[in-house]
Amino acid sequence: MSTHLGAHPGDIAPLVLMPGDPLRARWIADTFLDDARCYTEVRGMYGFTGTWRGQRVSVQGSGMGQPSLAIYAHELFKEYDVQRVVRVGSCGAMTERVAVRDIVIASGACTDSSMNRLRFEGLDYAPVADFGLLRAAHDAALTVAGDAGVHVGLIYSSDSFYPARPELSARLVEHGVLAVEMEASALYTIAASYGRKALAVCTVSDHLVTGEETTAQEREQTFGAMVEIALTAGLS
Ligand code: ADE
Repeated sequence: MSTHLGAHPGDIAPLVLMPGDPLRARWIADTFLDDARCYTEVRGMYGFTGTWRGQRVSVQGSGMGQPSLAIYAHELFKEYDVQRVVRVGSCGAMTERVAVRDIVIASGACTDSSMNRLRFEGLDYAPVADFGLLRAAHDAALTVAGDAGVHVGLIYSSDSFYPARPELSARLVEHGVLAVEMEASALYTIAASYGRKALAVCTVSDHLVTGEETTAQEREQTFGAMVEIALTAGLS
């Protein structure tokens, strides 16, 4: 067992879907997986392994923010030989080019976190998605969700849900950033450090420009579509 995962070697599949919310991990296991078994309950950060269309898949909660995700991503890659992690989460739209309920597939993730700056001693590393996963997710998204409402582009992994300087968002948008969430940048960097593959697929739950928010029912529906995209891409 690793420090934060109560799993034995072999308990976790080569593909892991990673929602922030551990209860979403349980919902994914209950809704999509056959014969799902919970392999960890440490700190309530549930993880499950089951099968989808006959192939083994795990689902592991990451918690909110990059320090929390980094703990679980490290242990998955280092202790359990996980090969691919697909984050399935929510994001806030930063531009009117993106609408609530849309899906954003993150080709890259910039950040205000000091995690990468410390790792690279001030150098600006550019965390990017695995191209094979990205292409497969885009193909799957066109089938599952249709052309409208699917975006591939840059996102912003912020350390703050309530930003001290919201005016900085405008500058990011001027440089092509589509949406904000809180985890992808660390996931991409840690996957790269282990030579493994990672992708973040996010549904837009709220809009920073219009103030619009999705209902709980809409979030569940769009979340389901995103999980199907992530499973298809991760197992292709
Ligand atoms: N995840 C979903 N919406 C978000 C927002 N507005 N900021 C950061 N993370 C988010």
